Amino acid sequence: MNSKIFPLSRDQLERIAEQYPTPFYLYDESGIRNKARTINAAFSRFPDFMEHFAVKALPNPVILKILASEGCGADCSSLPELILADTSGIRREKIMFSSNQTPASEYQAAQELGAVINLDDESHIDFLEEAAGIPDRISCRYNPGPLKAGNLIIGKPEEAKYGFTRDQILSGFVRLAEKGVHHFGLHTMVASNELNPEYHVETARILFECAVEILEKTGIRLEFINLGGGLGIPYRPEQQAIDFEKLAAGIHAVYNEILVPAGLAPMGIHSEWGRAVTGPHGWLVTRAVHHKNIYRKYIGVDACMADLMRPGLYGAYHHITIAGKEDSPATETYDIVGSLCENNDKFAVQRQLPQIDRGDFVIIHDAGAHGRAMGFNYNGKLRCGELLLRPDGSILQIRRPETIADYFGTLLGVLPAFK
Ligand SMILES: Cc1ncc(COP(=O)(O)O)c(C=O)c1O
Repeated sequence: MNSKIFPLSRDQLERIAEQYPTPFYLYDESGIRNKARTINAAFSRFPDFMEHFAVKALPNPVILKILASEGCGADCSSLPELILADTSGIRREKIMFSSNQTPASEYQAAQELGAVINLDDESHIDFLEEAAGIPDRISCRYNPGPLKAGNLIIGKPEEAKYGFTRDQILSGFVRLAEKGVHHFGLHTMVASNELNPEYHVETARILFECAVEILEKTGIRLEFINLGGGLGIPYRPEQQAIDFEKLAAGIHAVYNEILVPAGLAPMGIHSEWGRAVTGPHGWLVTRAVHHKNIYRKYIGVDACMADLMRPGLYGAYHHITIAGKEDSPATETYDIVGSLCENNDKFAVQRQLPQIDRGDFVIIHDAGAHGRAMGFNYNGKLRCGELLLRPDGSILQIRRPETIADYFGTLLGVLPAFK
């Protein structure tokens, strides 16, 4: 069991909403800091650990600065994410550039920043050489194919578009060494939102065994192994959160079993978790606007799928509470819906909840990762802003809501040019 707690009372929310009308995302700085500390403490048993926070999960420079001050780096997948990391003070090897189908200009930018480029394909060796030159330090993404079962969100590794095959990893490292690379890393990412710690320990085992094979067959000694992202969080109250101490201990046991006897210790152990770091520490705060009773009872709220698309896209469960009614009996069955002209714009389907009145704050939990970041503008919807709850209880707006001017920003000058 995990408790689904929202850190503010209804009265506090009323006051905040006077200044920052709903909908908005709220992130809890203390929660995020504590999570980074928990991870770093658990993994301090490794001589060189670095969590490169997956910027795509929560691409806000204030959040990145918070994580940087806790010792985290960044994992970026595009030029804007590289710039976000750089402007947040995350520099050079603290940036991992795990992209795919990468344009030459992005490789150039990553190279200029001194980021660690994580190649997604063997053909990118020549592509990178032509675009930006081969750096001294590089990583390659391994796709273990049939060695590993994937999960629902990311699919089977064999059917996933990412990474090098095992043979390509071996030949790719040899080619990179011939081109002057001295420092090598190995990466994989085979699952998303996976809550079973054993799954992640087994992923580490596959990577460690691959590192030994690389040493034996090519003489190349890896310097770091990046376990990728994909740690799950308990979206449902009855699910169990991953225990980082146990996870780190499990991976450490495999490290001692495989890497140490092969003479591959000390090995840097890196991760690029996003969801597990900020997911549980963010909420989408929205208000009930409409009641509709037809074949089902609907509550229309002022946020929509354009603010949070996981439920519509994956049928993902997000826990919902009603501010001030946390202890009220769940006497009603509602679909909680947004205003998009799409019938999958539902934050909850046939959910048992207390009676919801107009104006009630409907709190959508575990929205701190892959939430606003996945938002969009379909139907002319404007994405909401982001607030930070500081450790002293104050509120800081860290992203304003989009405006009509933002929406039309890409259309400026279009009509005068159209004759
Ligand atoms: C390459 C890569 N690294 C890290 C992540 C972060 O994953 P998560 O937030 O599930 O930990 C992702 C997510 O899609 C990814 O594609």
